[in-house]
Formats: sequence, C-alpha cells, structure tokens
Amino acid sequence: MAFENEERVVLVDHPMVQHKLAILRDKTTPSKQFRELVRELAMFETFEVTRDLPLEEVFVETPVAEAKCKIVKGRKMAIVPILRAGLGMVEGVLDLVPAACVGHLGMERDEQTHRPREYYAKMPKDIADRDVLIVDPMLATGGSSLAAIEYLRECGVKSLKLMVLVAAPEGIRAVLDADPDVTVYTCAIDDGLNDAAYIVPGLGDAGDRIFGTK
Ligand code: URA
Repeated sequence: MAFENEERVVLVDHPMVQHKLAILRDKTTPSKQFRELVRELAMFETFEVTRDLPLEEVFVETPVAEAKCKIVKGRKMAIVPILRAGLGMVEGVLDLVPAACVGHLGMERDEQTHRPREYYAKMPKDIADRDVLIVDPMLATGGSSLAAIEYLRECGVKSLKLMVLVAAPEGIRAVLDADPDVTVYTCAIDDGLNDAAYIVPGLGDAGDRIFGTK
C-alpha cells in the first residue's frame, strides 16, 4: 500500500476472503451465489471492523466453576448501506452484530452540481451517538462514499468507518483526504478505474450482479 494516512486503510486479505473474492469476481458466477458471497465477505470483514470494540469483565457460572469472562461493552452500532448495492452487505454485518440498527441512504447525481446527493435517508433517531459503519461493495471514484460521509457528519456522527469489498486507489485517496477520522476497510485494492469509472479488474456492476438486473 502506498497511501498517505495508510494507517486508516485496513486490507482484510485472509485466505478465505481472497478465495471467496476470486469467485465473486468471476463473470460466470450467478446472482444467487454472488449475493451469498457478498453476505459472507461482509461478515468476515466485520470481524476486522469490530476488532477494536471495548470489552468488559463479567463472571459466568460454568457447570464446574466461576469463570472470569469478557463481553462486548454495550456500544451502539448502526449500519448504513448506500443504496442499492450496499443492501447486499447488510445481512452479513447483522450476522455478527445482530443488535445493530440499519439506516438507509440513497444517493443520486445532482444535475446542477453533478455531485452525488442523498435522495432518500432514513436514519435511527440517535444516529449521532452510534458507531456508524457505511457499507458499499465498490469504492470507485469515492463520490457516493464522500457524500455519505458528509451527510453523516452533518447528522453529528463522530465514529465513522467505511466498509467495501473492492476499492480503487483513487477512491481510497479521495476518502482519506476528505475526512481525517474515517477508516476504510476493504478486501482488495485494485489497479484503478477505466474511462467509465469501473474498477479494473473489479467485478463489474455490483448492484446489477446482486439483484440480477444486468
Ligand atoms: N460500482 C460498481 O458496481 N462497480 C464498479 O466497478 C464501480 C462502481
């Protein structure tokens, strides 16, 4: 990796993640399997995303004796998928963090400014007090992620992470430069973008492949 602020980029490249990502990239992988893989990869990635969760000590009676154990301290989390491809990752995160709330954020291109802006947003009321995880499978130019980060900062969110499956270096740089506190989690950093702003080699249009709308 060669990024300024690369301490805020976490590459989740466990062998099982790389294996599943290879199948995900394959253009012959059908939608059903693609959806399952997106969910599984999101779950694996959430292990890393939640690595810094604070713990508290509890005592548990086992059938044999009292055990000093640790449980996750009651931090409140919210998952915010960027519509529509981000929806494919939500269940995978919930598999690991079932108590998380889910806020939905739809982004579209503003015809005046040519920048992405939110056309739909439904957040938990206490979003500002939650640890927020934005999910979107592809970080390409970073346009939607930046707009999502800006929107959530305006909502008062302090703790913010971005979780993607495949990232282009351009998108990572854009996010790191725009926000000094966000951390980016990705399973792969690809070569770059083509003229149509697709990630190369990437996996094509993630939303189309998740929802079978190709
Ligand atoms: N969005 C996608 O779904 N794929 C890309 O390659 C870039 C953006």
